[in-house]
Amino acid sequence: MVKAVGVCPLPYWFKMPFPNNFQWGVATASYQIEGAPYKVGGGRSVWDMFCERPGAINDNSNGDVACDHYNRYKEDCAMMKELGVPNYRLSISWPRVIPNGVGSIDPKGLAFYDQLLDELLENGVQPHVTLFHWDFPYELYLKGGWLNRDSVEWFADYTQIIVDKLSDRVASWMTLNEPQCFVGLGLQSALHAPGDKLNFKEVLLAGHHAMMAHGRAVQVIRARSSKPSRVGWAPVGAPCIPVSESEADIAAARQATFCTPWKTVWSNAWWNDPVFFGKYPEAESAVFGSDVPEPKAGDMELICQPLDFYGANIYNGQMIKADADTGKPVEVPHHLGIGRTVYHWPVTPDALYWGARFFHERYGKPIVITENGIGLSDWVALDGKVHDPQRIDFLTRYIGGLERAINEGIDVEGYFQWSLMDNFEWYEGYRFRFGLVHVNYQTQERIPKDSAYWYRDLIASNGALLRG
Ligand code: GCO
Repeated sequence: MVKAVGVCPLPYWFKMPFPNNFQWGVATASYQIEGAPYKVGGGRSVWDMFCERPGAINDNSNGDVACDHYNRYKEDCAMMKELGVPNYRLSISWPRVIPNGVGSIDPKGLAFYDQLLDELLENGVQPHVTLFHWDFPYELYLKGGWLNRDSVEWFADYTQIIVDKLSDRVASWMTLNEPQCFVGLGLQSALHAPGDKLNFKEVLLAGHHAMMAHGRAVQVIRARSSKPSRVGWAPVGAPCIPVSESEADIAAARQATFCTPWKTVWSNAWWNDPVFFGKYPEAESAVFGSDVPEPKAGDMELICQPLDFYGANIYNGQMIKADADTGKPVEVPHHLGIGRTVYHWPVTPDALYWGARFFHERYGKPIVITENGIGLSDWVALDGKVHDPQRIDFLTRYIGGLERAINEGIDVEGYFQWSLMDNFEWYEGYRFRFGLVHVNYQTQERIPKDSAYWYRDLIASNGALLRG
């Protein structure tokens, strides 16, 4: 007779399935797919401005048309249904809804998202909404952008309009996507819009305001949502991976995950400690020195609003070992010839396991992988299909890492694959393809790649397909 689980240890080969309510999904962002920035009356964003700068985008392209999702959203919703995708992470373009960032609304812009959410639900797809995925209103950039402390209330006002209109249909909210990128790449290294090169103190001040805006947005969602809401945010998740599973290497990787030894925005703790603990991390503050912002009374309390999940966009991780004498973290180069994506990002599937584990340990929240995927240069084969075995292998390995975390009891609620379809990949333009669905930018024809059908089957099996 089989003994009841709970009174006998599970055999070593037993793997717990993904929870029944696990959120399988795909993700996109407004500027990367929508197109039609001016035709419909919406305002400009800093990305519209940045794309006009000579040399800013590697293939001299922009988001004017992108995937023409603005006009093709019905087709795209039907495609998600066809592919059995139950959850969709989308973002709202702030200037499409409020052309000047503050003040009057463009009813057509708001109606677009209203209709999109209805269409998703009619196709059995739950909408998960990101309020800000980098298309900051140009007019507000002229007023100082995130450097202006008023940005906190600008963002709160925008959030209120969105929540009042859409919250009856939103499954979960993410306030900001990757502050590390829109602050670091946008305001420090000028690789992203708006393309500024501020000093580090100013960069951190802009980040401080962005975190306050996050907190205000959470307050607005909690106060005005027409149904109880799941709220989080979606920072870059940059986990470190121990080279071995010795206690010393794991401790070193954990330490390195939460403190970078340089003045850099690529810090997990810098952004998440304020949001989850209400204070800047001491170790990182010691590194940043006099560049650390001086919060005004109430700032940190505002930033630290209760959240329901820890969202993480994870693509790879740095290998770390413990120094033999001191135990301190030491970076270890990836092995020669490691698999790399078109971005030259190393393929490190354990990043999802260690990311879920370390972030859950420190912040104590359920984990949602809000982005993970691979950029390749896929094309349509002579048989008319798009064969992307590397993406299937990549996803099998990474989601396998996440499954290990779940097997070990870490609370992981969802996984959003980046991306539903090929799209505008920021300064790389259209050269890199992250989609499960191939987009022909001349004809706008969509062709699901082999990986799209694989992901459909993975979802249908609730993850069991990983094990063959
Ligand atoms: C980011 C963004 C996405 C990207 C994706 C691939 O992480 O940069 O959230 O918009 O397209 O990550 O680079």
